[in-house]
Amino acid sequence: MRSFPPYRIQVVREIPITTRPERERALELAAYNMFDVPANMVTIDLLTDSGTGAVSAAQEAAATAADRSYAGSDSYHRFRAAVDGLTGYPHTLPAHQGRAAERILFSTLLKPGQISLSNTHFDTTRANVEIIGCEARDLPCPEAADLDSLKPFKGNIDLDALEKTLSGPDGDRVGMVLMTITNNGGGGQPVSMANLTAVRDTCRRHGVPFFLDAARFAENAWLVVQREPGYQHHSPAEVARRAFALADGCVASLKKDAISPMGAFIGLRDQELARRCEVNLIATEGFRTYGGLAGHDLERVAQGLDEVLNPHYLRAREAEAADFARMVGEAGVDIVQPPGIHALYLNAGRLLPHIPPHRFPGHALACELYLAGGIRCVELGSLYLGEFDAAHNLVTPAPFELVRVALPRRGYTKAHLEYVADVLASIAKNPEQVPGYRVVDAPPVLRHFNLRLAKI
Ligand code: F0G
Repeated sequence: MRSFPPYRIQVVREIPITTRPERERALELAAYNMFDVPANMVTIDLLTDSGTGAVSAAQEAAATAADRSYAGSDSYHRFRAAVDGLTGYPHTLPAHQGRAAERILFSTLLKPGQISLSNTHFDTTRANVEIIGCEARDLPCPEAADLDSLKPFKGNIDLDALEKTLSGPDGDRVGMVLMTITNNGGGGQPVSMANLTAVRDTCRRHGVPFFLDAARFAENAWLVVQREPGYQHHSPAEVARRAFALADGCVASLKKDAISPMGAFIGLRDQELARRCEVNLIATEGFRTYGGLAGHDLERVAQGLDEVLNPHYLRAREAEAADFARMVGEAGVDIVQPPGIHALYLNAGRLLPHIPPHRFPGHALACELYLAGGIRCVELGSLYLGEFDAAHNLVTPAPFELVRVALPRRGYTKAHLEYVADVLASIAKNPEQVPGYRVVDAPPVLRHFNLRLAKI
Protein backbone atom coordinates (compact mmCIF):
# COMPACT_ATOMS: atom_id res chain seq x y z
CA MET A 1 0.00 0.00 0.00
CA ARG A 2 1.32 3.48 -0.86
CA SER A 3 1.79 5.97 1.94
CA PHE A 4 0.13 9.35 2.02
CA PRO A 5 0.60 12.42 4.23
CA PRO A 6 -1.58 12.49 7.39
CA TYR A 7 -3.05 15.94 6.65
CA ARG A 8 -5.09 17.82 4.08
CA ILE A 9 -4.17 21.22 2.70
CA GLN A 10 -6.42 23.99 4.02
CA VAL A 11 -4.48 27.19 3.32
CA VAL A 12 -2.37 27.75 0.23
CA ARG A 13 -0.13 30.47 -1.14
CA GLU A 14 0.00 31.25 -4.84
CA ILE A 15 3.33 30.79 -6.57
CA PRO A 16 4.66 33.00 -9.38
CA ILE A 17 4.53 31.68 -12.93
CA THR A 18 7.13 33.45 -15.08
CA THR A 19 8.42 33.38 -18.65
CA ARG A 20 11.94 32.40 -19.67
CA PRO A 21 12.86 35.98 -20.77
CA GLU A 22 11.69 37.27 -17.35
CA ARG A 23 13.85 34.69 -15.60
CA GLU A 24 16.84 35.46 -17.80
CA ARG A 25 16.54 39.11 -16.81
CA ALA A 26 16.08 38.30 -13.11
CA LEU A 27 19.11 36.01 -13.01
CA GLU A 28 21.30 38.48 -14.88
CA LEU A 29 20.22 41.26 -12.50
CA ALA A 30 21.14 38.96 -9.59
CA ALA A 31 24.62 38.50 -11.16
CA TYR A 32 23.85 34.77 -11.36
CA ASN A 33 23.65 34.51 -7.58
CA MET A 34 20.59 32.47 -6.52
CA PHE A 35 20.46 34.24 -3.17
CA ASP A 36 19.85 37.55 -4.97
CA VAL A 37 16.94 36.34 -7.10
CA PRO A 38 13.75 37.77 -5.57
CA ALA A 39 11.42 35.04 -4.29
CA ASN A 40 8.57 36.48 -6.37
CA MET A 41 10.56 35.40 -9.43
CA VAL A 42 10.87 31.79 -8.22
CA THR A 43 8.22 29.21 -9.11
CA ILE A 44 9.44 26.19 -7.11
CA ASP A 45 11.79 27.15 -4.28
CA LEU A 46 14.00 24.22 -3.30
CA LEU A 47 16.78 26.40 -1.89
CA THR A 48 16.28 25.10 1.64
CA ASP A 49 14.10 23.01 3.92
CA SER A 50 14.79 25.50 6.72
CA GLY A 51 11.90 27.61 7.99
CA THR A 52 10.01 26.79 4.81
CA GLY A 53 7.71 24.01 6.05
CA ALA A 54 3.95 24.50 5.96
CA VAL A 55 2.63 25.14 9.46
CA SER A 56 -0.40 23.23 10.68
CA ALA A 57 -3.74 24.57 11.85
CA ALA A 58 -2.83 23.31 15.32
CA GLN A 59 0.44 25.26 15.24
CA GLU A 60 -1.34 28.44 14.18
CA ALA A 61 -4.08 27.98 16.79
CA ALA A 62 -1.44 27.62 19.50
CA ALA A 63 0.47 30.59 18.09
CA THR A 64 -2.64 32.77 18.23
CA ALA A 65 -3.14 31.92 21.89
CA ALA A 66 0.55 32.44 22.74
CA ASP A 67 1.65 34.11 25.94
CA ARG A 68 4.22 36.83 25.31
CA SER A 69 5.22 37.43 28.92
CA TYR A 70 8.88 38.37 29.18
CA ALA A 71 9.65 35.86 31.91
CA GLY A 72 8.21 32.40 32.47
CA SER A 73 5.40 32.57 29.91
CA ASP A 74 2.93 29.71 29.44
CA SER A 75 4.33 29.33 25.94
CA TYR A 76 7.83 28.83 27.33
CA HIS A 77 6.59 26.09 29.63
CA ARG A 78 4.88 24.32 26.74
CA PHE A 79 8.10 24.64 24.73
CA ARG A 80 10.10 23.22 27.64
CA ALA A 81 7.71 20.32 28.11
CA ALA A 82 7.99 19.39 24.42
CA VAL A 83 11.79 19.69 24.31
CA ASP A 84 12.41 18.05 27.69
CA GLY A 85 10.17 15.11 26.79
CA LEU A 86 12.31 14.56 23.72
CA THR A 87 15.86 15.16 24.93
CA GLY A 88 15.82 14.42 28.64
CA TYR A 89 18.49 17.12 29.14
CA PRO A 90 18.09 18.96 32.45
CA HIS A 91 19.04 22.32 30.95
CA THR A 92 17.47 23.84 27.84
CA LEU A 93 17.98 27.33 26.47
CA PRO A 94 15.89 28.65 23.57
CA ALA A 95 17.60 30.66 20.81
CA HIS A 96 16.24 32.36 17.74
CA GLN A 97 17.91 29.99 15.26
CA GLY A 98 20.51 27.24 15.05
CA ARG A 99 23.54 29.43 14.41
CA ALA A 100 22.79 31.53 17.50
CA ALA A 101 22.69 28.36 19.59
CA GLU A 102 26.01 27.32 18.00
CA ARG A 103 27.63 30.67 18.71
CA ILE A 104 26.58 30.60 22.36
CA LEU A 105 27.60 27.00 23.02
CA PHE A 106 30.90 27.08 21.12
CA SER A 107 32.08 30.44 22.44
CA THR A 108 31.32 29.25 25.97
CA LEU A 109 32.77 25.75 25.63
CA LEU A 110 35.78 26.11 23.34
CA LYS A 111 39.05 28.00 23.76
CA PRO A 112 41.02 29.43 20.81
CA GLY A 113 43.34 26.82 19.31
CA GLN A 114 41.04 23.91 20.11
CA ILE A 115 39.64 21.49 17.53
CA SER A 116 36.04 20.46 16.89
CA LEU A 117 35.67 17.03 15.28
CA SER A 118 32.56 16.11 13.33
CA ASN A 119 31.13 13.74 10.74
CA THR A 120 30.68 17.01 8.80
CA HIS A 121 30.24 20.53 10.17
CA PHE A 122 27.39 22.41 8.50
CA ASP A 123 28.62 25.75 7.09
CA THR A 124 27.36 28.04 9.88
CA THR A 125 28.60 25.49 12.40
CA ARG A 126 32.07 25.58 10.86
CA ALA A 127 31.95 29.39 10.80
CA ASN A 128 31.00 29.53 14.49
CA VAL A 129 33.92 27.22 15.34
CA GLU A 130 36.42 29.16 13.21
CA ILE A 131 35.29 32.60 14.31
CA ILE A 132 36.53 31.90 17.84
CA GLY A 133 39.94 30.77 16.59
CA CYS A 134 39.28 27.03 16.63
CA GLU A 135 39.61 24.42 13.90
CA ALA A 136 36.59 22.55 12.49
CA ARG A 137 37.80 19.15 11.26
CA ASP A 138 35.50 16.78 9.35
CA LEU A 139 36.03 13.01 9.60
CA PRO A 140 33.34 11.52 7.32
CA CYS A 141 33.27 7.73 7.00
CA PRO A 142 35.05 6.29 3.92
CA GLU A 143 31.77 5.16 2.24
CA ALA A 144 30.71 8.82 2.01
CA ALA A 145 33.32 9.35 -0.73
CA ASP A 146 31.54 6.88 -3.03
CA LEU A 147 28.49 8.83 -4.18
CA ASP A 148 26.93 5.75 -5.81
CA SER A 149 27.33 3.41 -2.84
CA LEU A 150 24.00 2.28 -1.39
CA LYS A 151 25.40 1.81 2.13
CA PRO A 152 22.65 2.83 4.57
CA PHE A 153 24.55 5.15 6.95
CA LYS A 154 26.94 7.22 4.88
CA GLY A 155 26.49 10.09 7.34
CA ASN A 156 28.57 8.26 9.96
CA ILE A 157 31.85 9.56 11.34
CA ASP A 158 35.02 7.58 10.59
CA LEU A 159 35.51 5.85 13.97
CA ASP A 160 39.12 4.88 13.26
CA ALA A 161 40.03 8.45 12.32
CA LEU A 162 38.23 9.69 15.45
CA GLU A 163 40.16 7.31 17.70
CA LYS A 164 43.46 8.12 15.95
CA THR A 165 42.92 11.86 16.28
CA LEU A 166 41.98 11.64 19.96
CA SER A 167 44.94 9.42 20.85
CA GLY A 168 47.37 11.22 18.50
CA PRO A 169 49.38 14.44 18.87
CA ASP A 170 46.28 16.68 18.38
CA GLY A 171 44.24 14.72 20.92
CA ASP A 172 44.74 17.21 23.76
CA ARG A 173 43.44 20.04 21.61
CA VAL A 174 40.07 18.43 20.81
CA GLY A 175 37.41 20.48 22.61
CA MET A 176 34.34 18.64 21.40
CA VAL A 177 32.96 16.05 19.02
CA LEU A 178 29.84 17.19 17.18
CA MET A 179 27.68 14.73 15.27
CA THR A 180 25.35 16.26 12.68
CA ILE A 181 22.16 14.20 12.32
CA THR A 182 21.28 13.85 9.50
CA ASN A 183 24.55 14.84 7.83
CA ASN A 184 23.49 17.85 5.77
CA GLY A 185 26.98 18.73 4.52
CA GLY A 186 27.52 15.05 3.68
CA GLY A 187 24.71 14.42 1.20
CA GLY A 188 21.88 14.43 3.76
CA GLN A 189 22.88 10.93 4.81
CA PRO A 190 21.79 9.48 8.18
CA VAL A 191 23.95 8.43 11.13
CA SER A 192 23.40 5.02 12.71
CA MET A 193 22.75 4.47 16.40
CA ALA A 194 25.73 2.10 16.39
CA ASN A 195 27.96 4.94 15.18
CA LEU A 196 26.55 7.40 17.76
CA THR A 197 27.04 4.81 20.52
CA ALA A 198 30.64 4.21 19.47
CA VAL A 199 31.27 7.97 19.38
CA ARG A 200 29.84 8.27 22.90
CA ASP A 201 32.14 5.47 24.13
CA THR A 202 35.20 6.95 22.43
CA CYS A 203 34.47 10.42 23.81
CA ARG A 204 34.00 9.03 27.33
CA ARG A 205 37.30 7.18 27.15
CA HIS A 206 39.09 10.36 26.12
CA GLY A 207 37.12 12.72 28.37
CA VAL A 208 35.87 14.84 25.44
CA PRO A 209 32.36 16.34 25.41
CA PHE A 210 30.03 14.86 22.78
CA PHE A 211 27.28 17.00 21.25
CA LEU A 212 24.64 16.52 18.58
CA ASP A 213 23.76 19.01 15.88
CA ALA A 214 20.21 17.70 15.89
CA ALA A 215 18.52 19.89 13.27
CA ARG A 216 17.04 16.82 11.54
CA PHE A 217 16.78 14.48 14.51
CA ALA A 218 13.37 13.09 13.48
CA GLU A 219 14.38 12.28 9.92
CA ASN A 220 17.54 10.61 11.23
CA ALA A 221 15.46 8.60 13.69
CA TRP A 222 13.09 7.54 10.93
CA LEU A 223 15.95 6.32 8.72
CA VAL A 224 17.33 4.37 11.70
CA VAL A 225 13.94 2.66 12.11
CA GLN A 226 13.96 1.85 8.37
CA ARG A 227 17.58 0.85 7.91
CA GLU A 228 19.30 -0.23 11.14
CA PRO A 229 18.88 -3.82 12.34
CA GLY A 230 17.19 -3.99 15.74
CA TYR A 231 15.20 -0.75 15.44
CA GLN A 232 12.34 -1.66 13.12
CA HIS A 233 9.91 -2.07 16.01
CA HIS A 234 10.84 1.22 17.66
CA SER A 235 8.93 4.45 17.19
CA PRO A 236 10.89 7.38 15.75
CA ALA A 237 10.32 9.21 19.06
CA GLU A 238 12.00 6.37 20.99
CA VAL A 239 14.97 6.35 18.64
CA ALA A 240 15.31 10.13 18.84
CA ARG A 241 15.23 9.99 22.66
CA ARG A 242 17.95 7.34 22.64
CA ALA A 243 20.11 9.45 20.35
CA PHE A 244 19.81 12.49 22.63
CA ALA A 245 20.51 10.25 25.63
CA LEU A 246 23.89 9.25 24.18
CA ALA A 247 25.21 12.82 24.03
CA ASP A 248 26.25 15.39 26.62
CA GLY A 249 24.01 17.93 24.94
CA CYS A 250 22.97 19.38 21.61
CA VAL A 251 22.39 22.38 19.47
CA ALA A 252 19.32 22.13 17.29
CA SER A 253 17.83 24.45 14.73
CA LEU A 254 14.05 24.08 15.04
CA LYS A 255 13.45 25.48 11.55
CA LYS A 256 13.78 21.97 10.13
CA ASP A 257 12.35 19.16 12.27
CA ALA A 258 10.08 21.31 14.41
CA ILE A 259 8.44 22.55 11.17
CA SER A 260 8.63 26.07 12.58
CA PRO A 261 9.52 29.27 10.71
CA MET A 262 11.94 30.16 13.50
CA GLY A 263 13.60 28.69 16.57
CA ALA A 264 16.43 26.66 18.07
CA PHE A 265 17.66 25.41 21.41
CA ILE A 266 20.74 24.33 23.32
CA GLY A 267 20.31 21.23 25.47
CA LEU A 268 22.86 20.46 28.19
CA ARG A 269 23.55 18.05 31.03
CA ASP A 270 26.33 20.05 32.67
CA GLN A 271 24.94 22.64 35.08
CA GLU A 272 28.02 24.84 35.12
CA LEU A 273 28.24 24.94 31.32
CA ALA A 274 24.51 25.70 31.19
CA ARG A 275 24.94 28.57 33.66
CA ARG A 276 27.71 30.11 31.55
CA CYS A 277 25.74 29.66 28.32
CA GLU A 278 22.76 31.31 29.99
CA VAL A 279 24.76 34.45 30.77
CA ASN A 280 25.86 34.60 27.13
CA LEU A 281 22.26 33.98 26.01
CA ILE A 282 20.76 36.72 28.17
CA ALA A 283 23.42 39.21 27.03
CA THR A 284 23.01 38.51 23.32
CA GLU A 285 19.76 36.65 22.47
CA GLY A 286 17.19 37.25 25.16
CA PHE A 287 16.06 36.13 28.59
CA ARG A 288 16.32 32.41 29.31
CA THR A 289 12.58 31.86 28.88
CA TYR A 290 12.39 33.23 25.34
CA GLY A 291 15.93 33.40 23.91
CA GLY A 292 15.10 35.66 20.99
CA LEU A 293 11.80 33.93 20.18
CA ALA A 294 8.31 35.37 20.43
CA GLY A 295 5.63 33.40 22.29
CA HIS A 296 4.10 32.34 18.98
CA ASP A 297 7.41 30.79 17.87
CA LEU A 298 7.68 28.81 21.11
CA GLU A 299 4.13 27.51 20.56
CA ARG A 300 4.73 26.51 16.93
CA VAL A 301 7.85 24.63 18.00
CA ALA A 302 6.10 22.78 20.84
CA GLN A 303 3.32 21.65 18.52
CA GLY A 304 5.68 20.98 15.57
CA LEU A 305 7.91 18.68 17.63
CA ASP A 306 4.88 16.50 18.23
CA GLU A 307 3.74 16.49 14.59
CA VAL A 308 7.18 15.76 13.13
CA LEU A 309 7.47 12.47 15.04
CA ASN A 310 4.19 11.10 13.69
CA PRO A 311 5.28 7.89 11.87
CA HIS A 312 2.65 8.45 9.15
CA TYR A 313 4.14 11.87 8.44
CA LEU A 314 7.72 10.56 8.38
CA ARG A 315 6.81 7.59 6.21
CA ALA A 316 5.12 9.88 3.67
CA ARG A 317 8.03 12.32 3.75
CA GLU A 318 10.57 9.57 3.13
CA ALA A 319 8.38 8.17 0.34
CA GLU A 320 8.17 11.62 -1.24
CA ALA A 321 11.98 11.89 -1.34
CA ALA A 322 12.34 8.32 -2.63
CA ASP A 323 9.73 8.92 -5.32
CA PHE A 324 11.42 12.15 -6.35
CA ALA A 325 14.77 10.32 -6.47
CA ARG A 326 13.27 7.73 -8.80
CA MET A 327 11.88 10.47 -11.10
CA VAL A 328 15.23 12.27 -11.14
CA GLY A 329 16.97 9.00 -12.02
CA GLU A 330 14.50 8.43 -14.86
CA ALA A 331 15.25 11.96 -16.04
CA GLY A 332 18.86 10.82 -16.52
CA VAL A 333 20.43 12.61 -13.56
CA ASP A 334 22.46 10.80 -10.88
CA ILE A 335 22.18 11.72 -7.21
CA VAL A 336 24.13 10.97 -4.06
CA GLN A 337 22.86 7.51 -3.14
CA PRO A 338 20.89 6.35 -1.32
CA PRO A 339 18.40 9.24 -1.18
CA GLY A 340 17.96 10.70 2.31
CA ILE A 341 14.91 12.75 3.25
CA HIS A 342 15.42 16.50 3.39
CA ALA A 343 17.12 16.95 0.02
CA LEU A 344 18.49 15.24 -3.05
CA TYR A 345 22.06 16.03 -4.05
CA LEU A 346 22.40 16.02 -7.86
CA ASN A 347 25.68 14.87 -9.37
CA ALA A 348 26.26 17.85 -11.67
CA GLY A 349 29.89 16.92 -12.30
CA ARG A 350 28.75 13.71 -13.97
CA LEU A 351 25.90 15.32 -15.92
CA LEU A 352 28.04 18.18 -17.27
CA PRO A 353 31.50 16.68 -17.93
CA HIS A 354 32.23 19.39 -20.52
CA ILE A 355 32.29 22.03 -17.74
CA PRO A 356 35.55 21.91 -15.73
CA PRO A 357 35.48 22.58 -11.97
CA HIS A 358 36.69 26.17 -12.40
CA ARG A 359 33.62 26.84 -14.56
CA PHE A 360 31.35 25.40 -11.84
CA PRO A 361 29.18 22.58 -13.21
CA GLY A 362 27.01 22.58 -10.07
CA HIS A 363 26.28 26.26 -10.33
CA ALA A 364 25.69 25.86 -14.07
CA LEU A 365 23.04 23.20 -13.39
CA ALA A 366 21.41 25.32 -10.66
CA CYS A 367 21.24 28.30 -13.08
CA GLU A 368 19.80 26.09 -15.81
CA LEU A 369 17.10 24.74 -13.50
CA TYR A 370 16.13 28.32 -12.78
CA LEU A 371 16.23 29.49 -16.39
CA ALA A 372 14.40 26.46 -17.77
CA GLY A 373 11.81 26.07 -15.03
CA GLY A 374 11.93 28.82 -12.38
CA ILE A 375 13.31 26.25 -9.92
CA ARG A 376 15.71 27.51 -7.24
CA CYS A 377 18.32 25.34 -5.56
CA VAL A 378 21.92 25.72 -4.50
CA GLU A 379 25.34 24.53 -5.64
CA LEU A 380 27.45 22.42 -3.29
CA GLY A 381 30.63 22.15 -5.30
CA SER A 382 33.74 24.11 -6.15
CA LEU A 383 31.98 27.47 -6.13
CA TYR A 384 30.93 27.02 -2.52
CA LEU A 385 33.55 24.63 -1.13
CA GLY A 386 36.58 25.24 -3.35
CA GLU A 387 39.56 27.43 -2.47
CA PHE A 388 40.22 30.60 -4.45
CA ASP A 389 43.09 33.03 -4.88
CA ALA A 390 42.76 36.81 -4.53
CA ALA A 391 41.88 37.18 -8.22
CA HIS A 392 38.92 34.76 -7.74
CA ASN A 393 40.59 31.88 -9.59
CA LEU A 394 39.77 28.41 -8.31
CA VAL A 395 42.92 26.95 -6.74
CA THR A 396 41.58 23.78 -5.11
CA PRO A 397 38.33 22.30 -6.41
CA ALA A 398 35.77 20.61 -4.15
CA PRO A 399 35.80 16.78 -4.16
CA PHE A 400 32.37 16.69 -5.86
CA GLU A 401 30.28 19.01 -7.99
CA LEU A 402 26.81 18.73 -6.48
CA VAL A 403 23.54 20.67 -6.42
CA ARG A 404 21.30 20.40 -3.38
CA VAL A 405 17.60 20.25 -4.13
CA ALA A 406 15.91 20.65 -0.73
CA LEU A 407 12.38 19.55 0.04
CA PRO A 408 10.36 21.96 2.21
CA ARG A 409 8.19 20.01 4.66
CA ARG A 410 4.51 19.65 3.67
CA GLY A 411 4.92 22.44 1.09
CA TYR A 412 4.86 20.93 -2.39
CA THR A 413 2.83 18.13 -3.93
CA LYS A 414 3.98 15.25 -6.12
CA ALA A 415 2.91 17.27 -9.17
CA HIS A 416 5.40 20.00 -8.29
CA LEU A 417 8.19 17.44 -8.01
CA GLU A 418 7.14 15.79 -11.29
CA TYR A 419 7.48 19.19 -12.91
CA VAL A 420 11.00 19.57 -11.46
CA ALA A 421 11.89 16.12 -12.83
CA ASP A 422 10.51 17.12 -16.26
CA VAL A 423 12.68 20.24 -16.28
CA LEU A 424 15.71 18.16 -15.27
CA ALA A 425 14.93 15.68 -18.06
CA SER A 426 14.83 18.49 -20.61
CA ILE A 427 18.26 19.69 -19.43
CA ALA A 428 19.68 16.16 -19.38
CA LYS A 429 18.66 15.65 -23.03
CA ASN A 430 21.15 18.28 -24.22
CA PRO A 431 23.56 18.76 -21.33
CA GLU A 432 26.35 20.08 -23.59
CA GLN A 433 24.27 23.23 -24.20
CA VAL A 434 24.62 24.26 -20.54
CA PRO A 435 27.27 27.02 -20.25
CA GLY A 436 29.85 27.44 -17.50
CA TYR A 437 30.33 30.50 -15.28
CA ARG A 438 33.19 32.59 -13.95
CA VAL A 439 33.46 34.56 -10.72
CA VAL A 440 33.50 38.32 -11.27
CA ASP A 441 33.55 39.42 -7.65
CA ALA A 442 33.53 37.72 -4.27
CA PRO A 443 33.81 39.07 -0.72
CA PRO A 444 36.38 37.48 1.60
CA VAL A 445 33.81 36.17 4.11
CA LEU A 446 30.51 34.34 3.53
CA ARG A 447 31.55 34.28 -0.09
CA HIS A 448 28.77 32.27 -1.64
CA PHE A 449 25.96 34.50 -0.38
CA ASN A 450 27.47 37.56 -2.09
CA LEU A 451 29.15 36.21 -5.20
CA ARG A 452 28.80 37.93 -8.56
CA LEU A 453 29.24 35.74 -11.62
CA ALA A 454 29.10 35.95 -15.40
CA LYS A 455 28.10 33.40 -18.01
CA ILE A 456 30.91 32.08 -20.23
N1 F0G B 1 23.04 22.77 11.51
C1 F0G B 1 22.59 22.19 10.38
C2 F0G B 1 22.86 20.74 10.15
C3 F0G B 1 21.87 22.94 9.45
O1 F0G B 1 21.43 22.36 8.34
C4 F0G B 1 21.63 24.32 9.69
C5 F0G B 1 20.91 25.14 8.74
C6 F0G B 1 22.12 24.88 10.88
C7 F0G B 1 22.82 24.06 11.77
C8 F0G B 1 21.91 26.31 11.22
O2 F0G B 1 20.61 26.52 11.62
O3 F0G B 1 19.64 28.01 9.89
O4 F0G B 1 18.57 27.75 12.13
O5 F0G B 1 20.70 28.99 11.90
N2 F0G B 1 20.67 24.76 7.56
C9 F0G B 1 19.92 25.46 6.53
C10 F0G B 1 20.04 24.71 5.24
C11 F0G B 1 20.22 26.91 6.41
O6 F0G B 1 19.58 25.23 4.21
O7 F0G B 1 20.57 23.60 5.22
P1 F0G B 1 19.84 27.90 11.37
